[in-house]
Amino acid sequence: MCGIIAITGRDDAIAQVLAGLKRLEYRGYDSAGVAAVGAHDLEVVKRAGKLEELTRALDDTPLAASTGLGHTRWATHGAPTDRNAHPHLDPSGRVAVIHNGILENYGALKAELGDVRFASDTDSEVAAHLVARELGRLQDGPDLLTAVRRVVAQLEGAFALGFVAVDDPDTVVVAKREAPLIVAHADGVGYCASDVAALIDHTRDVAALLDGQIARIRPDGIDVVDVDGTPVEPHRFHVDWDLDAAEKQGYDHFMLKEIHEQPQAVADTLLDRLTASSDGETPRLHLDELRIDEREFARIDKVFILACGTSLHAGMLGKLAIEHWAGIPVDVEVASEFRYRDPIVDPHTLVIAISQSGETIDTIAAASHGRDQRAPVIALTNVVGSTLAREADGVLYTHAGPEIAVASTKAFTTQIVGCLILGLYLAQVRGRVYASEAEDILTRLQQIPAAIEQTLLLDQEIRELAERYRDTDYTMFIGRHAGLPIAMEGALKLKEISYLHAEAFPAGEMKHGPIALIEPGSLVVALAPAGHVFGKMVSNIQEVRARGASVLAIGTDGSTADLKEHAHHVLTLPEPPHELAGPVLAAIPLQLFAYHVATLRGEDVDQPRNLAKTVTVE
Ligand code: F6R
Repeated sequence: MCGIIAITGRDDAIAQVLAGLKRLEYRGYDSAGVAAVGAHDLEVVKRAGKLEELTRALDDTPLAASTGLGHTRWATHGAPTDRNAHPHLDPSGRVAVIHNGILENYGALKAELGDVRFASDTDSEVAAHLVARELGRLQDGPDLLTAVRRVVAQLEGAFALGFVAVDDPDTVVVAKREAPLIVAHADGVGYCASDVAALIDHTRDVAALLDGQIARIRPDGIDVVDVDGTPVEPHRFHVDWDLDAAEKQGYDHFMLKEIHEQPQAVADTLLDRLTASSDGETPRLHLDELRIDEREFARIDKVFILACGTSLHAGMLGKLAIEHWAGIPVDVEVASEFRYRDPIVDPHTLVIAISQSGETIDTIAAASHGRDQRAPVIALTNVVGSTLAREADGVLYTHAGPEIAVASTKAFTTQIVGCLILGLYLAQVRGRVYASEAEDILTRLQQIPAAIEQTLLLDQEIRELAERYRDTDYTMFIGRHAGLPIAMEGALKLKEISYLHAEAFPAGEMKHGPIALIEPGSLVVALAPAGHVFGKMVSNIQEVRARGASVLAIGTDGSTADLKEHAHHVLTLPEPPHELAGPVLAAIPLQLFAYHVATLRGEDVDQPRNLAKTVTVE
């Protein structure tokens, strides 16, 4: 969602702010703006629409300053217009604010300001008014940090806020509560941004602010305090990927590049999972970060997997893996629903929160609801230093590298691999599998990257299918067992980037209602790998074909021959090294199908309409 960047201490601050905004584009936005701190005033340029609109406006009105703010806005309060774009100024034009999040008490705060004219319909603008008022009240001269601290104490809701003021130049003050903010200082320049992608040009040593922290960023360094002004420590870390990883590298779209990065991403996620045990016997599986005794995980009798969207589909596969190997009952739940009912959670319940970004507000809130009931929490995330990673008792990282396209691809397949590792890990700590068995399964899983390479060779065939079906109004995805979450993921991918109607159903549910939707012209995508549910899938394929649907079956080496008799088209995947690893391969043709349909229809695949990469507001 909204992206924030601020830079102080270099003459080309505004150009750098714009470059940073470009890197934050993937978060999703519908307007953008910058503020430059001049000697006597603040200059703001902002535009609805894409960054090109802002760049054009800046070509007409170049801004020069050594301190600047930039923002990409994903509209919540107020339409995506020029006037609602950030930065916002106070009425005297001496304080500017940028904001990601929602200020829940903005109405009361506005009312308290009395008869003041607001220039926008946003919740955010009030923060600039309040900071300007506090600056005016300070006896000992303008001190932006103190003014912001006083205002933050009055705010309710979630925010990453950035302020500059003419009266305290060369200073940016930022504040964080439940929305990500990264700060950094390198070579006499201070930086802040919503995520590391915007800072990676400048430094790889960064710090994530923790909730309640406020930072004063100046060319000579960064001070971090809490709302009372007491110095506090942010979470410092080193980013282990470089600029190349955040570039398109010759691909037309980030999504395509990320689809093709899956062999490496999966290989990296499988890497170094075993460490020598203290008794010198077989190596044992481990988590990347563990902040509680492993024996806590051994005592659990129930697991909740919490996630949203694509991560939820990976979680459904996590349930299969954990129940299969660790023998613990698992519930998988949409994170946004979890804390609004009365889930039975206690210290013997394990919460596994899955999130690519580690910043999805609902997943963070659901995990902390579990923690409040004293349940241990494991985070499965792709982002080192993310809120979820910091707050969990144990972390398993998916080493997918930065995922820029809004539609998740490599994060998903690495999450599935992460779920397999977690299933084995829990089985190991509970003594359900011997270390040697876990090692054997992990060794077999090492074959997945090569199998993904082979699967990617289907690209041309899939593009031809996409050409044929690019205008199909309704596509139904069906699957059973490990095929069901992939059917759901296939439908999500298609609808989110092509805007075509697509749904997924358990194949066994068809006769209970959904088959009524099938008519000539419908497309049914059936997940039908070799395995114990294959025969049932063939029956379902026959049923929809008899009612006029075209059928695209996703099979494996062992199922293709049979499928060819029943489906109109068959895509053949290599046989996976383990049945539960099959979904990693099966996801790929569906990603490519969605990608090709969307590009053939001329849609903006990397930044689909109405969607943001990271959902940081409820
Ligand atoms: C779909 C997609 C989303 C995310 C969801 C959760 O392609 O990317 O459905 O999976 O918003 O995001 P994370 O995993 O960052 O919590």
